[in-house]
Amino acid sequence: MSSTWGDTLKLSIFGESHGPAIGVVLDGLPAGEEIDMEQVLRFMDRRRPGKDPFSTPRKESDLPRVLSGVYQNRTTGTPLAAMIQNSDTHSGDYSELASVARPSHGDFTGFIRYHGFNDPRGGGHFSGRLTAPLVFAGALAIQMLERRGIYTGAHLASVAEVADRRFSPVSLSKEELLSPGQKAFPVLEDKAGEEMRERIETARMDRDSVGGTVECGVIGLPAGVGSPMFGGVENVLSSILFGIPAVKGVEFGLGFEGSRLTGSQYNDSFCLKNGEICTATNHHGGILGGITSGMPLLFSVAFKPTPSISQPQQTVDFISRTPKELVIKGRHDPCVVPRAVPCVEAAAALGVLSLLLDGVGGGFDR
Ligand SMILES: Cc1cc2nc3c(=O)[nH]c(=O)nc-3n(C[C@H](O)[C@H](O)[C@H](O)COP(=O)(O)O)c2cc1C
Repeated sequence: MSSTWGDTLKLSIFGESHGPAIGVVLDGLPAGEEIDMEQVLRFMDRRRPGKDPFSTPRKESDLPRVLSGVYQNRTTGTPLAAMIQNSDTHSGDYSELASVARPSHGDFTGFIRYHGFNDPRGGGHFSGRLTAPLVFAGALAIQMLERRGIYTGAHLASVAEVADRRFSPVSLSKEELLSPGQKAFPVLEDKAGEEMRERIETARMDRDSVGGTVECGVIGLPAGVGSPMFGGVENVLSSILFGIPAVKGVEFGLGFEGSRLTGSQYNDSFCLKNGEICTATNHHGGILGGITSGMPLLFSVAFKPTPSISQPQQTVDFISRTPKELVIKGRHDPCVVPRAVPCVEAAAALGVLSLLLDGVGGGFDR
């Protein structure tokens, strides 16, 4: 199904950007897991729009209302449903867009796929707003994993051509992993963050947009989680990460850069550290044969530039089939990537939780 992900752990996202509400149903969660709602809200706040000039000025409180699956602050193990109301909708901004395809957006493909019955307002079900329930679900997964010593963190690794330094691939500590998430602008090096902000501001002034990458790490995972071929850690994580709108690439470890190295340059030597088997380098990003090696799990996600820019663009009206010049009104992020950082963490945590619940390798202990 198009908006449902997973097998043992099933995640369904529903709603439209300008409908009454959006939400999520999570089925297959373990029972008896305590939920710290304040921590959930703090995590969701990192994605919330309207907090600074670098994100869309749309103001949403993003308060999730849990409808089922939690009793006396613990998961019941039955489907957990949560709803987030939409309040700050300006549907008039989109009235002219109903049949004019925004370049790079899902307007044209959505119209064809749903025979014109989809809700086009604000991108409808294709909107970045639909990541709010994903981030809510991920916040729950993060708590369940942290209780078992597994930590997920991410940072803005680049915006256009401006880059942050990378996570330490071998000795990534909990402090380094979680530090960007505690900042208003989630980078490791604040100097790089300043340059990124300037780059985004330039794009905004030019009525343009920029893309970027997010680097994500997971530590504390034992060796042996995952499967070869189709049930691998890469497969599971990619399938949920590509559910985040505007994601155009996912690479693990050195990824594409590794393809330019020789085997002797790329291979991570095995060694012993305090009696534990590990590798001296971590080009493999913590995954060998689809299975965790026990080294930090590391991957990067590429986001394209925000499709909606306010410069005049050439397009067509897909109902009248006539060429059109389009000037987009409405409120849009000149760069979606800062707000996408918690979305990547959420997707990663849900992916890892589902791998553990599948019980292959490490398993999920109560
Ligand atoms: C957090 C977030 C916010 C987004 N905000 C916008 C936006 O303001 N304007 C826009 O055109 N696209 C925005 N997008 C991207 C579009 O939703 C996305 O590009 C579109 O649905 C087409 O899907 P695709 O890029 O995956 O092909 C956002 C994406 C994310 C993750």
